[in-house]
Amino acid sequence: MPSQLKSFSFDASILQHQSNIPPQFIWPDHEKPCTEPPPRLDMPPIELGGFLSGDPESVANAARLVDQACRKHGFFLVVNHGIDMKLIEEAHRGTNYFFGMPLEEKERALRKPGDHCGYASSFTNRFSSKLPWKETLSFRYSAESRFSDIVGRYFLDVMGEDYAAFGRVCQEYCEAMNSLSLNVMEILGISLGVGPSYFREFFQGNDSIMRLNYYPPCQKPDLALGTGPHCDPTSLTILHQDHVGGLEVFVDDKWHSITPNPQAFVVNIGDTFMALSNGIYKGCLHRAVVNSTTPRKSLAFFLCPRMDKIVTPPKELVCEGNPRIYPDFTWPALLEFTQKHYRSDMKTLEAFVNWLRQKKHLQVEG
Ligand code: OGA
Ligand code: NI
Repeated sequence: MPSQLKSFSFDASILQHQSNIPPQFIWPDHEKPCTEPPPRLDMPPIELGGFLSGDPESVANAARLVDQACRKHGFFLVVNHGIDMKLIEEAHRGTNYFFGMPLEEKERALRKPGDHCGYASSFTNRFSSKLPWKETLSFRYSAESRFSDIVGRYFLDVMGEDYAAFGRVCQEYCEAMNSLSLNVMEILGISLGVGPSYFREFFQGNDSIMRLNYYPPCQKPDLALGTGPHCDPTSLTILHQDHVGGLEVFVDDKWHSITPNPQAFVVNIGDTFMALSNGIYKGCLHRAVVNSTTPRKSLAFFLCPRMDKIVTPPKELVCEGNPRIYPDFTWPALLEFTQKHYRSDMKTLEAFVNWLRQKKHLQVEG
């Protein structure tokens, strides 16, 4: 095997203290973190308290702010969201506990090639370059009643009895995220003018993904990235970052930071919702930087449609002045594309559409 293709394995618990980092983690110059702390992204936190109690003025206000953010970059903060702070703290505590375990233990949940769930670490067994400085644990959540314990079961089956309590916390956390994301879908329906129930109904029974992100300290934070620049291919992301900070978004041709606020969730539009809105609402490039002293965690809930749902915009969003941009597709097709063929970026949807067309072409010819 050529030496540069040899698989390697690093122990993050040692690597985080070393003053030199392996070349696989060094990003090319044009993608390296900013040398100066970037400016903060200016975003008014959107109050959900009034929305949740059905106050019409608050609903209109929230819809107006969401509309502004989503036409521009697709990122906004929500506060007074009704999610119990204790549940959020427990989820963070469990995440600390999991990633603090020895590698052999975490590898019980090891992600299999081609799969999108399980434990993944760039520090072990990978061949490529531009590696993210992180470990993740991803699992499936389904809002269908027959899957009411899918997250709890996953922890029990894969990690064993010791993780049963954390599994229950994650199940409950996902249920809270499901309910919050359906509320956000109501606001998005209002702000897009299709009414509050349209997208809420579209995402009933959603088949979503929850990911726990863990970023160990890095002694060369100016050379590495926790998560490289990407757009989320999913529909809507609801992220809770801890107090450390590191999330950045690319707006007006430069990187901006999103300051941590434990009371808030960071919400962003993904490619699938961009297609559902016929391109009216946009997602944008974002990334996570690392630091040399403090581990950082974030909890990401990725809302995704049920597998058999056709992603097609409502007729109200298609007209002569705004014709269809993307063909109909299903979420599993886009997921396969981003897993096997393409690193998600600003142009994922365009590239996906070309890939779909080519595939269709080949089928007709073949
Ligand atoms: C992600 C992501 C950013 C963060 O998981 O898709 O963008 O701050 N995470 O962890
Ligand atoms: Ni992301």
